[in-house]
Amino acid sequence: MQAQDLGTVAVIGGTGAEGSGLARRWAQAGLHVVIGSRRHEKGAQVAAELSAQLPGAHISGTDNLSAAQQADVVVLSVPYESQTAILQSIQPALSGKVLVTIVATLLGEKKGRYTPAPGGSAAMEAQRQVGDEVTVVAAFQNVGAHHLQDARAAIDCDVLVCGDKRSARNVAVALAEAAGMRGIHAGALQNAAVAEGLTAVLISINAIYKTRDAGIRITGLPM
Ligand SMILES: NC(=O)c1ccc[n+]([C@@H]2O[C@H](COP(=O)([O-])OP(=O)(O)OC[C@H]3O[C@@H](n4cnc5c(N)ncnc54)[C@H](OP(=O)(O)O)[C@@H]3O)[C@@H](O)[C@H]2O)c1
Repeated sequence: MQAQDLGTVAVIGGTGAEGSGLARRWAQAGLHVVIGSRRHEKGAQVAAELSAQLPGAHISGTDNLSAAQQADVVVLSVPYESQTAILQSIQPALSGKVLVTIVATLLGEKKGRYTPAPGGSAAMEAQRQVGDEVTVVAAFQNVGAHHLQDARAAIDCDVLVCGDKRSARNVAVALAEAAGMRGIHAGALQNAAVAEGLTAVLISINAIYKTRDAGIRITGLPM
């Protein structure tokens, strides 16, 4: 699958560091991107700022529900604590779509210590909440936001893609490639707990080695 085949991509919470960085890279790759926010004005403002930096790019911004309604693929990029409420607010627009969740469960004071989500993982909780009409895929949990802001800089990190349907994982793999990274099929949605846990591991490694650049690479693949 080519990124151009994806249609319009909505980034729910695309006003934040991670979502806006991905939106920037996807728009730069030629995708149509809609930034979603809890407030229409904020979504429109962030989209205008990105558009000003990327002449010719197709970026607009609005509230989360309108963004999801306009989209073929919906990307969830909000804090874990707000996931349930945000999913509830966009549920009417999700049926039949792939929902790519970036959410990592960073619970408690110490973000470098992994605490599993009560439902197994944020991704599995999302799938249970949105139901079978929506296909949830987890991806990008291990990509630091600051790497995404310079859209031309190479990112030394693979993207683990977990989901129960290969066709849906293909969507996230294409999004990873459009953002300048290698997407790796990493098995069932149940495995998303591992990717979410790795986020805490990378935060710890960054703190111990006094860097911001720790990432992951999968070796031994014929690609
Ligand atoms: N930052 C990273 O380096 C990184 C790396 C890997 C994974 N992640 C994961 O990606 C997701 C987004 O990360 P982020 O750093 O972009 O998060 P963020 O900046 O804290 O939040 C993203 C957006 O979520 C919306 N939001 C909804 N409910 C909120 C609430 N209760 N409190 C604050 N904001 C709320 C806000 O948008 P509106 O106000 O416009 O609605 C905000 O701009 C998180 O689940 C995070 O764990 C982040």
